[in-house]
Amino acid sequence: MTDSRSQLDGAALPDEERVDETLRPRSLAEMVGQNRLRENLAVFIQAARERNESLDHLLFHGPPGLGKTLLAHVVAHEMGANLRVTSGPAIERAGDLAALLSNLESGDVLFIDEIHRLPAAVEEILYPAMEDYQLDILVGQGPGAQSMRFDLPHFTLIGATTRPGLLTSPLRDRFGWVARLEYYPPEDLERILERSAGLLDVGLDSEACGEMARRARGTPRIANRLLRRVRDFAQVDGGPGARLSRDVTRFALERLDVDEAGLDRLDRALMMALFERFDGGPAGLETLAAAVGEDKGTLEDLVEPYLIYQGYLARTPRGRVATPRARKHFDVAPSGQQGKLL
Ligand SMILES: Nc1ncnc2c1ncn2[C@@H]1O[C@H](COP(=O)(O)OP(=O)(O)OP(=O)(O)O)[C@@H](O)[C@H]1O
Ligand SMILES: [Mg+2]
Repeated sequence: MTDSRSQLDGAALPDEERVDETLRPRSLAEMVGQNRLRENLAVFIQAARERNESLDHLLFHGPPGLGKTLLAHVVAHEMGANLRVTSGPAIERAGDLAALLSNLESGDVLFIDEIHRLPAAVEEILYPAMEDYQLDILVGQGPGAQSMRFDLPHFTLIGATTRPGLLTSPLRDRFGWVARLEYYPPEDLERILERSAGLLDVGLDSEACGEMARRARGTPRIANRLLRRVRDFAQVDGGPGARLSRDVTRFALERLDVDEAGLDRLDRALMMALFERFDGGPAGLETLAAAVGEDKGTLEDLVEPYLIYQGYLARTPRGRVATPRARKHFDVAPSGQQGKLL
């Protein structure tokens, strides 16, 4: 991802990827939060293991950075299975998926990230594969073409998407369980930060931890990123191994343009465009995207969900609208006063 938020929650830098590896929980028990989801998953895994069967297909959806990819790794680990990783946009032709499927071994977990981006022709191969563990392929061309059927080993498909609404219903219906990941409350993020600080061997004051947790947009990936950036500021300021205090945390967050509510530059740009240009809305997504110079998909996937979750923004049939809560946070006069800034 190359949007302007990539520093905080987009694609990781190579070095950061390695750190991400270190911080990634291995088991359901090591994961923090999402308790209902983890409890259900533990039941399904235990039941499948007791019956000596592969786990039914799973779909995880929810905003970026909440742990969908993590769950695919954890499920494979808990099942003692191999994980094969691919993504919707990487599978261009039906033949690519057929090759992937026919190389699976019994019990394998196949993870398809961004599954909403699978081309339609590829998706059709997936239906019989998911339902009956059958691979239907067309051999030859023209009138002489023949449909051939092959048996596949029993495997588990795990799909992940930030856009469940874009999934076709035949695909969606073939998952045995569809689970939504929710934003994490600050208490959960505090535990994630404490765990990560321990793994990175950095001292973290409890006030500093609370500050980061409250300002991490409910997202573990962002919490871990903030931790690493605050560590940088602490190190440059106080030398290697410096503890992360409340003061250095507040200083770092300010330098990173993360406000008291955890909103960053892009969140604020969107809300201010809505206030200043459209008197708080309604305004269409495309118009807003043009106003802040961002891609529409980035706003829809990365920016809006958290603003909506926090009650700053509402989606209405006529467009996006700022809420009274947003007016208060951004110190903007009520609508009707021409959106003048106080
Ligand atoms: N419940 C959790 N407990 C501890 N760490 C977590 C948890 N959930 C996520 N993380 C951390 O946050 C990082 C981001 O999670 P992950 O990559 O699974 O998000 P995602 O939902 O797949 O995001 P995207 O939609 O961008 O692919 C992980 O590397 C992991 O270290
Ligand atoms: Mg992911």
